Amino acid sequence: TYVVTDNCIRCKYMDCVEVCPVDCFYEGENMLVINPSECIDCGVCEPECPAEAILPDTESGLESWLELNAKYSAEWPNITVKGDAPADADEMSGVENKLEKFFS
Ligand code: SF4
Ligand code: F3S
Repeated sequence: TYVVTDNCIRCKYMDCVEVCPVDCFYEGENMLVINPSECIDCGVCEPECPAEAILPDTESGLESWLELNAKYSAEWPNITVKGDAPADADEMSGVENKLEKFFS
């Protein structure tokens, strides 16, 4: 599966939802997540994310992000249509430790 990671938080560009063939993105206030049991591992979303926040879970160190994606995709609503990114999305890209600072 692919997972959404730290840099999505407060960037939330949503280009990813437009390309996913199985519509497995779910929307929180500050980020999106992927439902790992629905993702078919096609990889199409990875290069579409301007924040480079989407990674395959085969990369090391992503266990906690996989858990977060699984947990919140079960709680948050599905999203299939791109909305407006936050006005300060570009400034927020690359800010460190977004999970601790901004996740809600
Ligand atoms: Fe959707 Fe493919 Fe990305 Fe999985 S890897 S979330 S199926 S676009
Ligand atoms: Fe987030 Fe990137 Fe999608 S910033 S909303 S994973 S395009």
